[in-house]
Amino acid sequence: MSHPALEAAGVGLTYPTRRGSTEALTGIDLRVEQGEFVALLGPSGCGKSTLLRLAAGLLAPTSGKVRVAGQPIARPDRRTGVVFQKPNLLPWKTVRGNVLMPARTLGLDPAESGRRADMLLELVGLSAFANGYPQELSGGMQQRAGIARMLLPDPELLLMDEPFAALDALSREHLTLELQRIWGSQRKSVLFVTHSIPEAVFLADRVLVMSPRPGSIVQELRIDLPRPRSLDTFDNPAFVAAARQLREYFNENLTQ
Ligand SMILES: Nc1ncnc2c1ncn2[C@@H]1O[C@H](COP(=O)(O)OP(=O)(O)O)[C@@H](O)[C@H]1O
Ligand SMILES: [Mg+2]
Repeated sequence: MSHPALEAAGVGLTYPTRRGSTEALTGIDLRVEQGEFVALLGPSGCGKSTLLRLAAGLLAPTSGKVRVAGQPIARPDRRTGVVFQKPNLLPWKTVRGNVLMPARTLGLDPAESGRRADMLLELVGLSAFANGYPQELSGGMQQRAGIARMLLPDPELLLMDEPFAALDALSREHLTLELQRIWGSQRKSVLFVTHSIPEAVFLADRVLVMSPRPGSIVQELRIDLPRPRSLDTFDNPAFVAAARQLREYFNENLTQ
């Protein structure tokens, strides 16, 4: 039997703080099926990053259960890849050296990892920059290098926390298209956190909407737009309708 790639059941998370506690998440139930792309959309501070950290095994829930491929998670695991807003590349290593970092930490076969790094640099369009240094790359190119590094150990589940939020609008749109292409060629399961409605609708099979803190999932919208999606998708009436529905929902229910 195949398990969902990610499953949260009745998950709550309360942070202890100096002046009491902060309830970040409550009653979270979600599933990401194998090969599915799920976008998690919610206002700032609603607990999106907290939920991602739980899925990554970087935090343990206060209540409820989180499972990856049917297994409870106690710590970060190589079957899961994580990308944050900033790629934090090591400035003294080449782009290829950065992509190869997980091979060293995880003790992967060097020759095979080298071949895989070259394949991934090609996939993210950075072959020509393999021997350059991160500071020679634009923000968008650095984020691509971060994506290649995440893919090096061939994780099954990708957790992405607003990976394009620090980029300018044009790079962001371009990288959104690129991510879809990369995902199409790799067929991973993805949980993608964003506060951009167009980004969520463009990329996802399903959009989950979170309430303000303490975050819970308050709406789900299936996006049946055909793939591969292209720039034309932004003008597709089904795209426009889905984005509008989400925007109206936020305006009516979720403004604090
Ligand atoms: N380590 C922490 N300790 C205490 N409170 C935290 C911590 N991390 C986040 N929070 C609080 O939890 C809530 C959710 O944060 P976060 O998950 O980062 O939201 P989002 O990613 O949706 O903006 C916020 O109120 C934030 O201040
Ligand atoms: Mg966040």
